[in-house]
Amino acid sequence: MKLTLPINYDDKHMRSDLSAAEKLAPREIMDARQELIKLHKTGEQGWLNILDDKKHIAEIKKAVKQFSKFKNLLVLGIGGSDLGARAILSALRTSGKKTKVHFAGDTTDPDEISAILDSLPWKQTAINVISKSGGTLETMSVFFEAKERLERAVGAKKAASAIICTTDPEHGALLNLARAKGYATLSVPQNIGGRFSVLTSVGLFPVAMAGINIDKLMSSAASLRDNWLKFGGTSHMIDQFSAYHVAHFAKKRDIHVLFTYSSALRQFSYWYRQTWAESLGKSKAVGPTPVASIGPTDQHSQLQLYQDGPDNKVYTFLNVENFNSKLRVPKSISTIDALTYAKGHSFADLIHSALSGTSGALVDQNKPVGIISIKKIDETSIGSLIIFYEIAVAMSGLMLHINPFDQPGVEDSKQRVKAILTK
Ligand code: PA5
Repeated sequence: MKLTLPINYDDKHMRSDLSAAEKLAPREIMDARQELIKLHKTGEQGWLNILDDKKHIAEIKKAVKQFSKFKNLLVLGIGGSDLGARAILSALRTSGKKTKVHFAGDTTDPDEISAILDSLPWKQTAINVISKSGGTLETMSVFFEAKERLERAVGAKKAASAIICTTDPEHGALLNLARAKGYATLSVPQNIGGRFSVLTSVGLFPVAMAGINIDKLMSSAASLRDNWLKFGGTSHMIDQFSAYHVAHFAKKRDIHVLFTYSSALRQFSYWYRQTWAESLGKSKAVGPTPVASIGPTDQHSQLQLYQDGPDNKVYTFLNVENFNSKLRVPKSISTIDALTYAKGHSFADLIHSALSGTSGALVDQNKPVGIISIKKIDETSIGSLIIFYEIAVAMSGLMLHINPFDQPGVEDSKQRVKAILTK
């Protein structure tokens, strides 16, 4: 299906050895669609509706104006409160004109935390602490260390005006602290879970501070959402993507590889990994294992396994059609006879050939291969990619008859760490 969208999904090699009966029935796609739409209509889920919430965007822009005087922003969050902003920022690589964003809330590794906090010029630094629950150990422990350093550098009063907390608008320890100390706040909508929150204040404030056009991100995500919502049948590319993954999962292809041919999208593949794992890994032994591979780097690492190893994987290649740099392989490479064929080719030719060659080899072995293509990396394509995967993971979860929106395993591990430290 050809769409005038900045993203295209080619699924002609996804069928592999699925019989007509094994490929998911249209009825199941329709049921999942209706359920997902209902969850948003009733307000139980909010990540499709937030794309049009002008009030939410206005709050973010107001905060950006208030904090834009700072040259540095330290962003502290973990999981869904961290990966989305990282994905957008590393994809869109902003120039040095705006605030420089640093991340340090996703670990309790003392060496890494010290290295980042020691390097910050605190007099020109603001802190954005992001925790929906307000009680996540990793994020909050780094926050208190960072806050003390900020206070030592500029005094408690100035420090208070350099801190902004992104959290639940009604409950939680972080909200209480912000109110008590007079910190600015941004709200995480209550009906949006962590890994679906990238297009809310959670992801948008840090990226807007870095100079990224959040209106473009949001309008592109909204266009693809509308395209999906208005689609009459069951052959929308996102539904087909989900249906194929679910059908192959049932056939024991329970490893879902995203092979991304762009270094700038490396962080995006980590965001995908969390979205897929936390949403689909649920009780009753349901759960495909997401794997993030980067091309061509991992052709020299994982590809041997993909080609010759067990046929238990589904592959999605992420193709960027146009790169900004026009860099070419120097003609002098023909000094080495065996490499003369590369002479004068652009590096874009090299990466595109690597994608075609690798995906082609897997197709020749009748392994399921799909290709997502974007024209280039910009706000428009990134906004579309995010909503593509959010809808796809929700649809897959509903077709697998699990709840893709909770994360009991993560909560359990938080309680276990607490019990160990309390002892
Ligand atoms: O997706 C999720 O729900 C999790 O990854 C959370 O985002 C993560 O555990 C951080 O939680 P919080 O924002 O409450 O600190």
